[in-house]
Amino acid sequence: MTHADLLEVELEELLRNEWFDPSEDFVRDALIQDLSVHAEAERDPIAWWEKQAAALDWFEPWTQVLGDENAPFYRWFEGGKLNLSHNCLDRHVAAGIGDRVALHWHGEEGESRTITYAQLLADVERCANVLKARGVGPGDVVGIYLPMIPEVVVAMLACARIGAPHNVVFGGFSAESVHERMAFSNASALITVDGARRKGRTAAVKSEVDRVMDGLTHLETILVVRHTGTACEMRAERDLWWDEALAAAEPHCPAEPLDSEHPLFILYSSGSTAKPKGIEHTTGGYLTGVAWSFKHVFDLKPQTDVYFCTADVGWITGHSYIVYGPLANGATSVMYEGAPDYPHQGIWWELCERYGVTIFYTAPTAIRTCMKWGPEPVRAHDLSSLRLLGSVGEPINPKAWVWYWLVVGGGRCPIVDTWWQTETGQMVITTLPGAQRMKPGSAGTPLPGMRAAVVDEAGREVQRDTQGLLTLNRPWPGMLRALYREPDRYVSAYWERFGAPTYFVGDASRQDHDGYFWVIGRVDDVINVSGHRLSTTEVESAIVSHPKVAEAAVIGQSDEDTGQAICAFVTLRGGIDGDDATIESLRDHVAQRIGKLARPKRIIWAGDLPKTRSGKIMRRLLKDIAEGRELGDITTLRDPDVMAQLSAAIVRHGADED
Ligand code: WT7
Repeated sequence: MTHADLLEVELEELLRNEWFDPSEDFVRDALIQDLSVHAEAERDPIAWWEKQAAALDWFEPWTQVLGDENAPFYRWFEGGKLNLSHNCLDRHVAAGIGDRVALHWHGEEGESRTITYAQLLADVERCANVLKARGVGPGDVVGIYLPMIPEVVVAMLACARIGAPHNVVFGGFSAESVHERMAFSNASALITVDGARRKGRTAAVKSEVDRVMDGLTHLETILVVRHTGTACEMRAERDLWWDEALAAAEPHCPAEPLDSEHPLFILYSSGSTAKPKGIEHTTGGYLTGVAWSFKHVFDLKPQTDVYFCTADVGWITGHSYIVYGPLANGATSVMYEGAPDYPHQGIWWELCERYGVTIFYTAPTAIRTCMKWGPEPVRAHDLSSLRLLGSVGEPINPKAWVWYWLVVGGGRCPIVDTWWQTETGQMVITTLPGAQRMKPGSAGTPLPGMRAAVVDEAGREVQRDTQGLLTLNRPWPGMLRALYREPDRYVSAYWERFGAPTYFVGDASRQDHDGYFWVIGRVDDVINVSGHRLSTTEVESAIVSHPKVAEAAVIGQSDEDTGQAICAFVTLRGGIDGDDATIESLRDHVAQRIGKLARPKRIIWAGDLPKTRSGKIMRRLLKDIAEGRELGDITTLRDPDVMAQLSAAIVRHGADED
């Protein structure tokens, strides 16, 4: 038998197990070894969260743990004052661990920088002073559009230090998206970079931003990190170089005592409509939830562990579990600038070996990509330092789970499959690695203090092993507090359906006979591409803004690599079919409007789209057609012939897939 066949056999063998257990060694050293925390939290969730909040440094104590008088506008630890940059930096330096490495940064071309807690604090204080000197104060929104370089962490913490909510835009989004998000949030400053690197090439960033930034009258400052040396114009009065500004700034900036409910950040995420939701998180509750979950789900021993999360800071995973969770706990992290296959397909594992990574957190789509590359790039490195693995972003298929377990974890490391959302701020459903057994494909159970249920359309809890809608039934400290300047939408999107305190998640799920939750996927018009959320309508409106397009409908199609892939049915003006050049031009257009990750993988020319008599596009039928399934009920269609035409179009364009 070849090595590949042998691996297949081993994986098949593993797939036959329903349960996996952490090793005795792991359990013996684990922070939590049994379910007594769940029981303790269940007896009195309020007292339990209060105890976790007390692990942070507060300038003033709270007067009330949970304020629910004005539900669903919940408030946590009201009356309390604290500062997150103080909790992530100053208190560690004061405790004598300023020399501990906060970040081992590794650049795309192999450069490295080691940044201690004391150094991070020094930069954050200067950066905060730069912002202050430009008139940025508590409540003023600051945009951040940076690649995975240490400055992005400095920028976020500097904002937190002065109470300026940050609005980070993922570096893979287009300049147009930055413009839109700066406009929606009335940002008064933007922190960006001259250029970004991707797989050996550099792309201009600042000059791209300049191209679209006119008209944002409230944007008074652009602070530019010098990274690639890419030329750009610097507009007098408005633009500053990061290095010059920080060097000239006052070194000390006291951390502002902020109300527990002071807004910490806005993060735009896709919803069911074309306009992204500005999800707002606040200070005290958010850090309580994120710091507790980071420490206990990852079983963190800050003196000895080295943690590596492969996400980008531009997503909630980066906010909660690259920046705030690890730093609040005094953890040492690895931060990597580049792509997983640059300079080679084993770069993550090379970094694990080099820095002695013990805890590794990634997404199922990344694991599936590694499976495609085969075990060799993993096995070329010594991964014996690893002791715990994590997964996030989408359901992990059992095959990928056992591969992760065996090839990366050497059959030795528990896997925590963490279910949560931008809105939840913190992990919600997972297993505690020293206390709970694992089932590949199931995220596990709600964390202590949290409650989830699967309900039917009427909000009644369904029987075990039955699919329904996932809900969270009790407020938790890391929860979102608002949609930025859209209070009605906050209520209608999450709370109206079942009524507070029942939070509507938007996922389909089932709970099995052991109480474990299996998340199936979104029930709304949100597509999950490689763990990234996109809305069908957002992509549709980008496509129809192309001059050749008359109409478009977008669906998420199951995809082996990315979980879901974007498939667009497009009607061109004049009803004609497009050619390859039109396909490319449409894809580029979407990349320009939203970002590369929104580029449709598949485009199907449609003479017409299936619509109900009231004109609503029936995406369900488009999904059936794209995935080659038998069509569901088509009797409600205005023109049932459309489906036959579309089926023919699929056959004609079958070769378009790439
Ligand atoms: C949606 C939230 C949480 C950070 C990354 C995504 C899906 C997320 C899991 C998981 C099954 C998952 C859900 C959720 N999801 N983690 N472990 N198992 N599904 O954050 O962009 O806000 O997306 O991602 O559908 O609703 P997000």
